[in-house]
Amino acid sequence: MMIYPIVRYGQPVLEKKAAAITEFDTPELNALVEDMFESMYAAKGVGLAAPQIGIAKRIAVIDVASGEDPAQKLVLINPEIIGREGAQTSEEGCLSLPTFREPVTRAQKVTLRAFNAKGEVWEMTGEDLLARAFLHETDHLNGTLYISHISPLKRDLIRRKIRKLQKANEWG
Ligand code: NI
Repeated sequence: MMIYPIVRYGQPVLEKKAAAITEFDTPELNALVEDMFESMYAAKGVGLAAPQIGIAKRIAVIDVASGEDPAQKLVLINPEIIGREGAQTSEEGCLSLPTFREPVTRAQKVTLRAFNAKGEVWEMTGEDLLARAFLHETDHLNGTLYISHISPLKRDLIRRKIRKLQKANEWG
């Protein structure tokens, strides 16, 4: 078991398209998925994408129950958004941009199709927080961060604050 450090905004791996997984049910893939859950729980997140631990592969994990209910642990490999309905606006954050949170408007209901670690296809429709997590994590695999969905003004403000933190050596 390994807990990976979370890669922060500014690292190129967060802004490039991740590669599809082609081999399933290997010891490496199964270990990586378990390590991603542990890394996510250690960081107190409800979702984590592989680029956030420096691995440019299309894998994400989500657990909106934060480890309280094993049935809610989701493994998203090569995920695709296949449906969206409605709209919701609420504050969103990201482990790669710690301390920042901004309101983001997303679909209220989202249908996702993905593979699990065994290579089986699954499909699920999530609402509210789960819908948001589906979109946020799938975005990560395309090199998109949630700050792409806020106003340019707010985005520049966050970038400026991060630059200051980087200069002060207070940004990982
Ligand atoms: Ni994120």
